[in-house]
Amino acid sequence: MAIAVSEGAQNSGNIEVELNFHVDTESLNDYDAILIGVPTYHHDVPLDFKNLFEEAAHQGLNLKDKVGSAFGSYGWSGEAPRLIMEIMKYKFEMKVLEPPLLGKYSPDQNTLNACEDLGKKVSESLMNRA
Ligand SMILES: Cc1cc2nc3c(=O)[nH]c(=O)nc-3n(C[C@H](O)[C@H](O)[C@H](O)COP(=O)(O)O)c2cc1C
Repeated sequence: MAIAVSEGAQNSGNIEVELNFHVDTESLNDYDAILIGVPTYHHDVPLDFKNLFEEAAHQGLNLKDKVGSAFGSYGWSGEAPRLIMEIMKYKFEMKVLEPPLLGKYSPDQNTLNACEDLGKKVSESLMNRA
């Protein structure tokens, strides 16, 4: 899903895209848009993702007005992307692109197309700001 999102963003505008499996908290400052792919476990967000934002708050990072969104694989309830977007929106005052994008277990082609569209939407929103 993350690869499809990044390809959608890359192919639809003159923007630089980075696909990371781990980010240092301070590096969140470097991006105009932050898209997080997160699975749902036990109706919740895995701890690493919570720690990333807790640490960002602790360090006083200013993410206000950065574009944000979240997507993820799930099995039956899929809460995690919504929870991440709430943190982005209410705690960091980011501009979130809703709704969160969910893919059941392994993503099918429709889900991958929706991922590419999400990347495109983010890319367009950045270019409209420039
Ligand atoms: C221990 C465990 C707990 C899970 N809890 C949930 C859950 O509460 N809600 C849900 O929608 N899916 C749940 N799932 C399903 C996962 O979200 C699903 O398998 C997803 O594809 C995992 O993505 P990943 O392979 O990228 O980690 C759970 C899976 C496992 C193994």
